[in-house]
Amino acid sequence: MLSWDDYHKQESTPAAAMPQERKPAAPAPVAAAEPSPVTAPAPAEVAAAAQPAAGASATPPAGLADNIARANESLEQMDVAPGLEELEMGAARVSVDEKAMINCRADLNQLVPFKYDWAWQKYIDGCANHWMPQEINMTADVSTWRSKDGLTEDERRIVMRNLGYFSTADSLVANNLVLAIYRLITNPECRQYILRQAFEEAIHTHAYQYCIESLGMDEGEVFNMYREIPSVAKKAAWSISHTHALSDPSFRTGTPEADQTLLRNLIGFYAVTEGIFFYCGFTQILSMGRRNKMTGVAEQFQYILRDESMHLNFGIDVINQIKLENPQLWTEEFKREAIQMILEGTQLEIEYARDTMPRGVLGMNAAMMEEYLHFIANRRLSQLGLPEQFPGAQNPFPWMSEIMDLRKEKNFFETRVIEYQTGGALNWGE
Ligand SMILES: [Fe+2]
Ligand SMILES: [Fe+2]
Repeated sequence: MLSWDDYHKQESTPAAAMPQERKPAAPAPVAAAEPSPVTAPAPAEVAAAAQPAAGASATPPAGLADNIARANESLEQMDVAPGLEELEMGAARVSVDEKAMINCRADLNQLVPFKYDWAWQKYIDGCANHWMPQEINMTADVSTWRSKDGLTEDERRIVMRNLGYFSTADSLVANNLVLAIYRLITNPECRQYILRQAFEEAIHTHAYQYCIESLGMDEGEVFNMYREIPSVAKKAAWSISHTHALSDPSFRTGTPEADQTLLRNLIGFYAVTEGIFFYCGFTQILSMGRRNKMTGVAEQFQYILRDESMHLNFGIDVINQIKLENPQLWTEEFKREAIQMILEGTQLEIEYARDTMPRGVLGMNAAMMEEYLHFIANRRLSQLGLPEQFPGAQNPFPWMSEIMDLRKEKNFFETRVIEYQTGGALNWGE
């Protein structure tokens, strides 16, 4: 736990006790020992250097007075209303009515007043569920993985393929968030959640890397699988194909065609990539954990699944809110296109299931997974207000729904959540 007392102790250390004559201006000893060549000194540091502390004999660097004069001159010329010319509302305070999901020109730096409470609530929930991969004990997994008869060949294939797919998939999602959609979603509540989600994707990539490193796998082989193994490569290529148009810096929304391109991206990433492409792998690894095998990897996946189900729900809310505000975009033709995207994703995931499970394994097989994916596809379609395409599809893995049930998960993770909520707090007292 952090305590301000530590800072006070450091500051009150007598200068004479310091190993060097001059007390370092930067608080971190590492920074003082190895100054970064690319980091410019903070203004306070410059000022401190210009006025040596009592008892110190440091002289200011040559030309400092001129440099400060130039800095002041530049500050005097600064426009204090940067970017306001881009805002229709000028300097007026933001009202809820001006806020919009896309194509909004109100000030995006002002989080409140809230309009999209669901997005803010997801940001709060995401923060409350914070976790890190190193907290999970991987010892049993390492000995299982190293042991000759710890896992069958088919089980090893499942672990390898899934780490192969996921180790890059979350980077694709993160890059899409920050390089493609962030600037196009024009309200600060949703952006706040997208920033949280982007960090969670970084944690997920970290978790996969942590598993790969712990198990001593060939990192190059695993991380390059999305280019080498067809069933993995096709899923990655499908996702990437939906980010191309938006990652062009000149892409702008504001026309029906461009707004539909953004919607295609959101469906492609939230409903298909995070909503379908993750489900065969999650089910396989969690099934392994339920059988007491690779429990560390399975626990990592369980935390990730909890985050992912919130990403998915956020994405569905975003898409539906854009539809509500822009009903002209949701044409019959566009609906047909959206259905086809869900079907393409489902087919690719079925192909992945067949490739990762050439035979029955862990109490499941590719045919059962196909049924499950039809069930999942129906869910995604109905969440988007589209007709289900696989009438009567059942869920052969009801335990997956239990794991994803947020209320139960909150109970399941309660201890760790509480630890985080207190562990990260500053201690002002004592
Ligand atoms: Fe993720
Ligand atoms: Fe995600």
